[in-house]
Amino acid sequence: MSDTYEICALADLPDPGSRGFEVEDVEGFVVRRGDALHAYVDRCPHTGVPLAWSPNTHLDAEGRLVQCSMHGALFLPDTGECIHGPCVGRFLTPVPILVEGGRVLIRLDELPEID
Ligand code: FES
Repeated sequence: MSDTYEICALADLPDPGSRGFEVEDVEGFVVRRGDALHAYVDRCPHTGVPLAWSPNTHLDAEGRLVQCSMHGALFLPDTGECIHGPCVGRFLTPVPILVEGGRVLIRLDELPEID
């Protein structure tokens, strides 16, 4: 469990909402919609820039989709697949996430290769 890091308390994560994090040189974000929580590296597959224009603003205005602020790509929050914009069909890089005792945790030892 040495590569497990606490991001925040589940109660502090808005629904729907997101929270950015930087842990061990990995910049990412957690996205919540109801009971569904997912985490991704904060890197748009289009050009590699971070998605949000400010911390904790990774969702679109309706709180339904993850949005890139640069060119407007939209991603499904549960899979990270881009469904609209210049990188349709590509995916955000997932970060393993778990909830234990009301705490939102990520695991960096299981992080896929980032290209
Ligand atoms: S950098 Fe994200 S859509 Fe272009």
